[in-house]
Amino acid sequence: MSSVHAAPDFWEERYRAGETPWEYPGVPPALTRFLARNPARSGETVLVPGCGSGQELAAFVAAGYAVTAVDFSATAVKRARGRVPAGAAVALHCADFFTCALPLAGYSLIYERTFVCALDPARWPVVAKRITSLLRPGGRWVGLFLEGPKEDGPPFGWDRGEAEALLRLHFEHLDTQRVPPAESPALFAGREWWREWRRPVGP
Ligand SMILES: C[S@@+](CC[C@H](N)C(=O)[O-])C[C@H]1O[C@@H](n2cnc3c(N)ncnc32)[C@H](O)[C@@H]1O
Repeated sequence: MSSVHAAPDFWEERYRAGETPWEYPGVPPALTRFLARNPARSGETVLVPGCGSGQELAAFVAAGYAVTAVDFSATAVKRARGRVPAGAAVALHCADFFTCALPLAGYSLIYERTFVCALDPARWPVVAKRITSLLRPGGRWVGLFLEGPKEDGPPFGWDRGEAEALLRLHFEHLDTQRVPPAESPALFAGREWWREWRRPVGP
């Protein structure tokens, strides 16, 4: 993959320079609503790929999930580490999500926010397969997905029809909700959708 944004340095420079317009300053309200409806049952785990500075990690801990988070920017991971409550069950990896050793079928939940839209659209089929392989059967991929043009990113928006056609190869669709523009940073206002997909239990 030759795109500059496929390399850690692209993101590392932006975190160091404080140029992170994608960040939501806190826990996105749509996630707060989800966690109120879905506190962890015993043994439930969540994976946060491309976690950035980890704004949401403490919320998952508070909801009872054992948390694993991955990002390949060292500065982002350091910031995320600073947000984890002392003694919390959080494993933070500074690593490439596509190659780091994560347990197959290891997660009840995988959380998306501005990770997929950071990746070249040519990689989305690989993302969908990787996410499916990491979810337990019946596990869910949930979060905030960006819609809009997929050219000239990042961010690369999803065309809903194209995205759904791809995801339906691997997942059952559970829910799609429009995110009120006031709940997004200016860069994404009116373009974020809360979506929930489930890995089928059967083959
Ligand atoms: C737009 S930022 C979003 C960060 C965070 N999810 C948020 O909402 O603030 C994209 C993040 O994905 C990370 N990233 C991109 N490609 C990655 C990869 N292959 N493996 C791990 N992290 C990656 C970047 O370092 C960056 O922190």
